[in-house]
Amino acid sequence: MTDELLERAAAVAERAYAPYSNYFVGAAVRARDGRVFEGVNVENAAYPLGVCAEKVALSRAVVEGCRPGDLEAIGITASPCGGCRQWLYEFRLDRVIFPNRDGEVVSYTPAELLPDTWELE
Ligand code: THU
Repeated sequence: MTDELLERAAAVAERAYAPYSNYFVGAAVRARDGRVFEGVNVENAAYPLGVCAEKVALSRAVVEGCRPGDLEAIGITASPCGGCRQWLYEFRLDRVIFPNRDGEVVSYTPAELLPDTWELE
């Protein structure tokens, strides 16, 4: 299952729109009911307006009716950035899986990736 999400993430990364960084990222999130939603990074000539692959995958899941607690795991082709870690925490995924800098596949909970996380009271 872990491998399947990473394979899906790697395959979809080829469809990233990243002409500025040339850094292609893919993400595949699996819902508890088995559905898988994919995302890629989408950049923009106004650089800060680009979106990360994880946020696209999570947003697609939301469009299809998923809410926090409905998503089980996500495979990402890269370590998630700080902002994406906050998104992953919001949706209460069980596992976040990605290859680390050494190429080793690692798996963390969102809370491990963002200790003492801020939450809206
Ligand atoms: N990027 C992601 O898609 N996810 C991350 O968690 C890290 C960064 C993208 C954003 C940008 O298009 C490119 O990688 C280079 O920063």
